[in-house]
Amino acid sequence: MNIVLLGSGKVATQIGKALHNAGIPVAQVYSPTLEHAQTLAMQVHAKAISELAELTKNADVYIISVKDDAILGLVDQLDLGDKIVLHTSGSTAMDVLKSASTNYGVLYPLQTFSFDKTVDFSQVPIAVEASSPEIAKQLEALAHKLSPKIIQMTSEQRLVLHIAAVFACNFSNHLYAIAEQLLESKGISFDYLRPLIAETAAKVQQALPSEVQTGPAIRKDEKILQKHLDFLKEQPQLQEIYRLLSQSIVNL
Ligand SMILES: NC(=O)c1ccc[n+]([C@@H]2O[C@H](COP(=O)([O-])OP(=O)(O)OC[C@H]3O[C@@H](n4cnc5c(N)ncnc54)[C@H](OP(=O)(O)O)[C@@H]3O)[C@@H](O)[C@H]2O)c1
Repeated sequence: MNIVLLGSGKVATQIGKALHNAGIPVAQVYSPTLEHAQTLAMQVHAKAISELAELTKNADVYIISVKDDAILGLVDQLDLGDKIVLHTSGSTAMDVLKSASTNYGVLYPLQTFSFDKTVDFSQVPIAVEASSPEIAKQLEALAHKLSPKIIQMTSEQRLVLHIAAVFACNFSNHLYAIAEQLLESKGISFDYLRPLIAETAAKVQQALPSEVQTGPAIRKDEKILQKHLDFLKEQPQLQEIYRLLSQSIVNL
């Protein structure tokens, strides 16, 4: 089995490296910016291309891992017969791939990826969906080369998984960034928060988040809540975020 990667961003880079390390050859890396294609191609011993006209028709699997808004435009330019075409998006329906090939599917790795931080793929849950039972078998076999944690999911379930991931990961990180800014305004180092953040994340490895909530909102410490809102009065957007999240904690 050999692979073509369409995209050279964070996910393509981590999937490409993991496949290469698992002994699965990557034939080509396509990316609109040749330099970006080259950076990844060098790491996985593939050929870099920036023109779809140069795309080989001889690979077994084509993995599209480009920004979500670019998937449709790219798919429209592909005509890959019965080759397996996959995308890696949480919120894009599988069927958008049907004009590119008769065989298609989704391989959505549930993790936050960066260029430089190598991910232990064996710990990453991968949501898969395929256009037919036969393709499902081949897709699962490929996904198993990356991780033992394979989950069959419909496009609708995967959408919910992605929204949940945005709340759990992207929004949490944004809240860290708000905390960073607040501390910075008083010359306090973000380092002091790191043990707290680590313990909060560690607790939900054993318990459900709804069971381990702490803080003034769950205690209904009204005076403290008001004091915090008063402190934030010069920053109405932060004040609104604080109010909404506190109310959500109470409601849940
Ligand atoms: N980041 C994550 O943690 C994560 C996790 C799971 C799934 N995903 C999904 O994986 C996919 C890729 O995400 P990513 O974070 O790896 O993205 P990324 O790092 O931002 O990389 C985006 C890629 O899209 C390419 N691209 C941009 N515009 C394009 C166009 N018009 N036509 C073709 N290619 C285009 C870029 O090519 P150039 O650099 O050459 O412009 C680049 O290779 C998305 O569907 C995302 O939802 C992401």
